Amino acid sequence: MNLADLNKVALAMVTPGKGILAADESSGTIKKRFDAISVESTEETRRDYREMLFRSQEAMSKYVSGVILYDETIWQNAKDGTPLVKLIEQSGAIPGIKVDEGTQGLPGCPGELITAGLDKLAERLKKYYERGARFAKWRAVIDIGHGTDGRNIPSMTAIHVNAHALARYAALCQQAQIVPIVEPEVLMDGDHDIDRCFEVTQRVLNKTFQELRIQRVALEGMILKPNMAIAGKKSPKPSPVEEVAEKTILLLKSCVPAAVPGIAFLSGGQSDEDATAHLNAMNRIGGLPWRLTFSYGRALQAAPQKAWSGKAENVAAGQRAFTHRARMNALASKGEWEAGLEKKVA
Ligand code: 13P
Repeated sequence: MNLADLNKVALAMVTPGKGILAADESSGTIKKRFDAISVESTEETRRDYREMLFRSQEAMSKYVSGVILYDETIWQNAKDGTPLVKLIEQSGAIPGIKVDEGTQGLPGCPGELITAGLDKLAERLKKYYERGARFAKWRAVIDIGHGTDGRNIPSMTAIHVNAHALARYAALCQQAQIVPIVEPEVLMDGDHDIDRCFEVTQRVLNKTFQELRIQRVALEGMILKPNMAIAGKKSPKPSPVEEVAEKTILLLKSCVPAAVPGIAFLSGGQSDEDATAHLNAMNRIGGLPWRLTFSYGRALQAAPQKAWSGKAENVAAGQRAFTHRARMNALASKGEWEAGLEKKVA
């Protein structure tokens, strides 16, 4: 492992004014997104859609530092035969790859999940590196609420085994000269308030960094992708922007060592504008030991998906919508976004 090079890639992924496009939806998830815009999900439509994003020249060259790809996409070519990975490299962004294989039920913990994909991971990483991937992603999922047997979740068991798997993955990535994005996602699906999210996320992050240390992962060569401290979507007490920003910073300061080069948030089902406003408010607080940016899936892609709707004649409109969201989030990564900028374009 060459840690200086891993650190260089990690820092490039969190370049101020840029962030990560998470375009790594599994075939099941992208089908759900396409269903919502009445587009059939085929190998070709998935390719056309992602090619549209990667050919958005302004967004890709100015606002996107890296792209997380799904296995199918990393091997696909654009319509003219150019590998999609090459389109990303040519724009100046770094190709990355989702390497987890989704979640499975966790034995003994009804309703809780463990992420799969460690078997043969070392071999797969080698092939991805050869294809151009310089970073990877693994998502662990922690839910807040009640298990199917009525117990309060998350259990310490789920937190522990998921942290262990994240650290196993991260150590294998670094060995393969690939920067791991470590993503322990505490879901915002429940009716819990912001303080419950804070408390659970704190336990999850503390356990994750404990496992990363035990398994000798070099913190300088990784990126953390956490959720924000935020009330669940069904909570009767939604959190104001300032509270999300302040509590998320407080939480991260207490759990994330300064040796970590950057934190790139997931959007987790927040509205497009909320995801931007929260990142912006955090960067306005300033004085942080790590760079804070976005690694958004839905909050970057919902608008272009709608504008495109599967029609070739809408490609330019889809690219405009993507460029707008990428630019808004890029400004937020420097604390320079204002709500008025949204309305000017709308
Ligand atoms: P969202 O921003 O839609 O949460 O997706 C980010 C991601 O990569 C989830 O694993």
